[in-house]
Amino acid sequence: MSEAPLFSLSNKWFTASVGATVGVALVAAFAGLIWFPLVQPNAKFAGIWDAICSAAGVPRVASSASPVPPAFKTSQVVVTTSILDHPSASAIGEGATLAQRCAICHGAEGISGANAPNLAGQPAIVIYKQLNDFKSGARVNGVMTPFAGLISQTEIVKLAAYYSHLAPAAAPVSPLPKPKIVVEGVPMRGIAPCDACHGDIAEKIGAPRLDGQSAAYIKAQLQAFASGTRHNDIDEQMRNVAGQLTPAEINSVADYYASLH
Ligand code: HEC
Ligand code: HEC
Repeated sequence: MSEAPLFSLSNKWFTASVGATVGVALVAAFAGLIWFPLVQPNAKFAGIWDAICSAAGVPRVASSASPVPPAFKTSQVVVTTSILDHPSASAIGEGATLAQRCAICHGAEGISGANAPNLAGQPAIVIYKQLNDFKSGARVNGVMTPFAGLISQTEIVKLAAYYSHLAPAAAPVSPLPKPKIVVEGVPMRGIAPCDACHGDIAEKIGAPRLDGQSAAYIKAQLQAFASGTRHNDIDEQMRNVAGQLTPAEINSVADYYASLH
C-alpha cells in the first residue's frame, strides 16, 4: 500500500490541518488585534495600526484628542494634609457664631436631632470640602445647596474650624458587632475595607467620620454614590466602593455606623 509522504501538500490531511491552524490564527489575530480594540466604547484610536499597537502593548503616542469631559460638575477642591491645621481661637469663636444658622438642622453642638448629618468632630477638611462642593454644584442637595451658596470662603474656613473642634457624638452604649466588610472588605469584588479610609486601619484625608451618623443618611449617601447622583468624591473613591455593594451590605454597614452613638 503506497502512502503519500506525511509533510507534503499532496497529503490532504496535512494540507487541511495546516490550513485550519493558519485560519484560526488569522481569525484570532483579527479579533484580538483589530476587532476587540476597536469596539471598546471608551478607547480612542487614530487608526487600525494604532489599535494593533495598543493591543500588542507597544507604547503609544498620547492621543491628541481632548479627553471626554463628564456631563456633571466634579469637585475642584484641592485636599491636602495640613491646609486647615491649628485654627486660631478667634476663628473657632467666629465659626460658632456663624454656625447658629446651621443649628436648626445640624444641632446646637453639631449633633443633629433632625434628619441632617452630625458635623461635630468631623475633620475640618471634610467640612471645608463638602461646603465647597455644595457651593460649586459638585454635590447637590435641595436643602444644603442654597445654604452653601450664601457663605463666603472665609466663613467656610471658620465653620470648619468650629465643627472640627467640637466633641463628636458620645461613645456607644451598645454598638453592633463590626461587619466583616468594614474590617476586611471583599477582596474578590475589589472592595477595600471601610476601615482603610474611614478610621481604625487608616484615615484617608477627606474621608468623613461615619460613627454616629443616622442609618438613613449613610444608606442614602451610599445609594447616591452607587447610582452616581453623588459624584463629588475625588478619583471616584466612593463610587467604586458603593457601586459594588449589595443592598444587604449597605443595610449592615449603615446599621453598624449608626449604632456607634
Ligand atoms: C434646613 C436644614 C439645614 C441647614 C439650615 C443646614 N444644613 Fe447642612 N445639611 C443638611 C442636610 C439635609 C444635609 C445632607 C445632605 C445630603 O443628603 O446630601 C446637610 C449636609 C451638610 C454637610 C455635609 C456633611 C457630610 O458629612 O457630608 C455639611 C458640611 C453641612 N451640611 C454644613 C452646614 C453648615 C455649615 C450650615 C450652616 C451654614 C448648614 N449645613 C445648614 C441640612 C441643613
Ligand atoms: C479608598 C478609600 C475609601 C474606602 C475604602 C471607603 N471610603 Fe467611604 N469615603 C471615602 C472618601 C474620600 C469620602 C468623601 C468623599 C467626598 O469627598 O465627598 C467617603 C465618603 C463616604 C460616605 C459619605 C459620608 C458623608 O458624611 O458625606 C459614606 C456614607 C461612606 N464613605 C461609607 C463607606 C463605607 C460603608 C465603606 C466600606 C464599604 C467605605 N465608605 C469605604 C473614602 C473611602
